[in-house]
This record gives sequence, structure tokens and C-alpha cells, in this order.
Amino acid sequence: MRPRSLRVFDLHPTGSDFEAEVVEGLAKPQKTLPCKYFYDADGAQLFEAICATQEYYLTRTERRIFKEHLPDIAKRVGPRAMVIEPGSGSGVKTRMLLEALESPAAYVPVDLSRTQLLVTSAEIAGALPDLEVLPVCADYSQPFPLPGPMSGSGRRLVFYPGSTIGNFDRPEATQFLKRMAEEAGPGGGLLIGFDLKKDPTVLHAAYNDSHGLTARFNKNLLVRIAKHCDTDLELDNFAHYAFYNPAHGRVEMHLVAVRDHTVRIKEHKFVFNAGESIWTESSYKYTRAEVRGLATRAGLEVAAEYVDDKNWFLVALFNVKAAPAG
Ligand code: AVI
Repeated sequence: MRPRSLRVFDLHPTGSDFEAEVVEGLAKPQKTLPCKYFYDADGAQLFEAICATQEYYLTRTERRIFKEHLPDIAKRVGPRAMVIEPGSGSGVKTRMLLEALESPAAYVPVDLSRTQLLVTSAEIAGALPDLEVLPVCADYSQPFPLPGPMSGSGRRLVFYPGSTIGNFDRPEATQFLKRMAEEAGPGGGLLIGFDLKKDPTVLHAAYNDSHGLTARFNKNLLVRIAKHCDTDLELDNFAHYAFYNPAHGRVEMHLVAVRDHTVRIKEHKFVFNAGESIWTESSYKYTRAEVRGLATRAGLEVAAEYVDDKNWFLVALFNVKAAPAG
């Protein structure tokens, strides 16, 4: 039985057409595949495993920052907050935040995947019975209406950890923060995790782990194509390739053709020359100055910045400017 504090809001997002998007991406001069397709059940599991590797420092570093600074964050956010989380992850960091806040009123995870949304929501509702859990099944890249908690609430806080913001290019990141500022409303807050620029060898290792999990995560896109599309694609014709591009301040992930060959998808044919790549993901890295610039462009005030002792990761608390009186 669902706890009484859990109400689901299904906005019935229209499913995207995987095969059509694959064909569109492979038809471009620089072939691409959308990184949102990494996260089927296998991909999500692989990502969790990556987060636990020695090389992928991001997750544990961000968690350490939260552990140390959550009391200060909680003080700044204040009582009865309504926490909005675009994309519901594994829930570990969310639990840490909700448990640290003073009597949070509501938790609103927003995700396209009903299954992931319900699993996370049920876990949180079970662990925090006084919290209203109001999952919204929607595409958070589009504006979505927010449910109101029955008990009234304090500030709205958008929570976007994990440096997922790095998977947007820089103009998209500004647009995303502007939209989240609208969701939080005047006086609201945004708590965002950014991966910082650092020694490229550290970045390289994080996206080329020694267990080959990142390679499998990347190639999982091809597994999905082979499974769900009408195609003759062969997985062994591609290899994982990830590198830091300093000119753009981003890690790029590609799938590189290891031999000349042709891939058919339905009636479409795609020619691959050996060495040619499909660009599957960008992970943008920031300096602290770049984070402040981004905040300014999005119309946000930096309320607090929290970093680890190596300056590898930054958690920023932004305030949405309050509406002028009158
Ligand atoms: C989800 N996102 C922030 C991860 C990243 O680091 O860009 C996804 C990932 N790609 C390779 N490893 C992890």
C-alpha cells in the first residue's frame, strides 16, 4: 500500500522515438547519439557502478562536500522547504539533504521514467513519513506545473547534484538554470553540483576506468540500437574513446569505428570509415569564475559555494532574486 504522504502526478509525457533520433543523429556530418539514451535499466546500473569506482571521483567527492556542509546549507534554506529534483537518481544524496533540512514540507522528484520515479519516491516516503512526496512524471527539459503540498511550505529548492549540469553545453546550461529559477520562484534556491577543471590526467582516468565500466556504459547505446532497431549494427565494430578537450573545457565520449563498414538502420545506410566517431556525450568542467558567470547570466545570486580540499568539485547554492516589492 502506498503511504498517505505519496501522491503521483502523471503528466503523460509523450515517449520519444528512439529509432528516429538514432537515424537523425547518424545522418549528421559529425555522427551523434543523444546521451539521454544511456539510462535504460542496464545503463543506469552501469552508471551506479561507475560512481563507485576509484577513478570516478565525482560522486564520492560531492557526497563528502554534502556531509561536511549540509548543516550550513540547511540553515540557509530554512524550515519547511519544498525540494524539487529534476531527474530522480539513486536517491542517496537526496536522502542526505532531506534528512539535514529542518522539517522539509515536500519532495517533488521529476522524471520521464515512471518506474525510476516510483521506486525513488516510495523509498523516500517510507524513510521520511512526515514528508509529502509528490512525484511528477514529466519531461523536465520542458516547463512543468508543480504540485502544491497540502500542508503549505517554506522556500522552494531545486536540487540538481552529480554535475549533471555538465552534460548540457554552456548556452543550454544557462537556459536550464533560468527555467529552474522560474520553477523555484522569487526567493527560492537552487543547489547545483559542478565538476571543476583539474589535471586532465585525473579527468581522463575518470572516463576510462580500469574495470571498463565506462566503456560498457558508452557501448550500451549500441546494445540498445541492436536490440530495439531494425539494424545490422555489430558491436565489435566500435570502441569506447573518451578524452579531455581543453579548448572547450569538456570531456568528450565517442564510439569510434575500428574498421571501414556500413550500418543499416531500416532503409537508411550509414558509412563508417575506420577512425570515424559517433559523439555520444560531453561533460563540461567549470572554473569557479565560470560558475559565477553562469549564475549571473541566469539571473541568480551566489549564496554560498562549497568545495572539497582538492578543489575538484563545487556545490553551489544560488538564490533566485526576490520579486521587487509593490
Ligand atoms: C551523469 N553525468 C554527470 C555523468 C558525467 O560524468 O558526465 C555521466 C557519465 N558519463 C561517463 N561517466 C559518467
